[in-house]
Amino acid sequence: MSQDVPDPELRAALHRAADMIADYLQDVGQYPVLPRVSPGEVDALLSGAPPLEGESLNAILDDYARIIEPNITHWNHPGFLGYFSITGSGPGIVGEALSAALNVNAMLWRTSPAATELEERVCDWLRQMLGLPELFRGHINDTASISTMLALAAARHSQSDLRIRDLGLAGRADIPELVVYTSDQAHSSCDKAAMTLGLGLEHVRRIESDRDFRMSFESLVEAIDSDRRAGRRPIAVVATAGTTSTTSVDPIDRIAELCRREGIWLHVDAAYAGSAAICPELRKEFAGWEQADSIVFNPHKWLFTPIDCSVLLMRDVDALRSAFSLVPEYLKTDEEGVTNLMDLGVQLGRRFRALKLWMVIRAFGVEGLQARIREHCRMARDLASTIESDPDFEVVAPVPFSVVCFRWRAGNSPVEQDSQNEALLNEINAQGPVLLSSTSLEGRDTLHLAIGNLKTTEQHIQDAWKLIRSAADRLSAAQPG
Ligand SMILES: Cc1ncc(COP(=O)(O)O)c(C=O)c1O
Repeated sequence: MSQDVPDPELRAALHRAADMIADYLQDVGQYPVLPRVSPGEVDALLSGAPPLEGESLNAILDDYARIIEPNITHWNHPGFLGYFSITGSGPGIVGEALSAALNVNAMLWRTSPAATELEERVCDWLRQMLGLPELFRGHINDTASISTMLALAAARHSQSDLRIRDLGLAGRADIPELVVYTSDQAHSSCDKAAMTLGLGLEHVRRIESDRDFRMSFESLVEAIDSDRRAGRRPIAVVATAGTTSTTSVDPIDRIAELCRREGIWLHVDAAYAGSAAICPELRKEFAGWEQADSIVFNPHKWLFTPIDCSVLLMRDVDALRSAFSLVPEYLKTDEEGVTNLMDLGVQLGRRFRALKLWMVIRAFGVEGLQARIREHCRMARDLASTIESDPDFEVVAPVPFSVVCFRWRAGNSPVEQDSQNEALLNEINAQGPVLLSSTSLEGRDTLHLAIGNLKTTEQHIQDAWKLIRSAADRLSAAQPG
């Protein structure tokens, strides 16, 4: 009774699942990107109570094929061009499956020597690929939100006179207000980190950005000066390389110099765009990040690694260790000179994420990865030129990587234009072959198209543009008058 499913049934299910995966990846383009499903419809197909008796894996796979696969949003679809379009990849899927089979908990070196050492090795490969100095050490987390929170915790801990690790923050009159700076374009994960770490949302200064959506350096300097004059203590700047809306890049080199002069921690959020730094010709966008105290970069966004996989690169990994290391008696081990990954964050148990990343890097090779990233950037640049040459549309932000932000010039006022762009987005997404998303830039509704999917080709982008154009024509024709 306590056994796993019988070996023949397991093998058959694994073979079938392998075929289902390969078929899915081959045919995913046949689905509409957004499933035609309403809230509650999936739930209605599911049994309300758990089965009392076990069911065959085959029957469960049948239901997977019937209920789950068609009712999911297809992030693997070549027409998925919204948000940050991300894809896994064949090698990543194989790595994910094998890590599920091993099911190790890589909390200590002893509980998983190969997972620990592979993680360290693969993070160092990434460091080399990104052109960062040797002293950076990588640590894999689930998401950039967690990586940024850990980095800001290390920044907070580096204020050693405050002894926050031991004494906490609450009820202390001796603690100055601690302030974090980031741009008005930065990701909300920075705010969430401040909420979680007891810094408070009101102590996140959202510095205005310039017309290219880059943090204004002058405003940053002013904000830091003003806080210091008011007795507050600036502890960290979060600069972004590749903001969520437009992929703009803050002036990291100037910010890094300022942070060094002022003794402020610099964290660089390169969650999406970090992948571009593997291409030497794109590395100029990241100038200065080698001076950061910490950098987050998500291989699960644009390095073809299945979600989740976020790498936190630390200039001094001991800063993380001293913020978080706490070893209860039952976890004490006597291996010397090893890394125990549990020392580098909040969580104890951890998945073996390095395996899929190792497989992705090996299977594509650095040159193969560079070629794919370059091609995505090229397609985005070409699309931006096409859009620019259409008098009915405008590109509204520079395109340093593979995201194009644009607007339909419909309507006679900004309010009308916003509602027309919203209508256009809905019309495009209702068609099926393409998914775009939207954002707000300077308070105006903007369409956001991201290329990051391994299967997306020139043809898909041309088809997407035709679809956008014809949706706009249809909406114009339907206008009264
Ligand atoms: C710039 C940036 N940073 C952080 C995040 C958060 O990423 P995650 O989902 O890995 O927490 C995002 C998400 O898109 C992002 O665009």
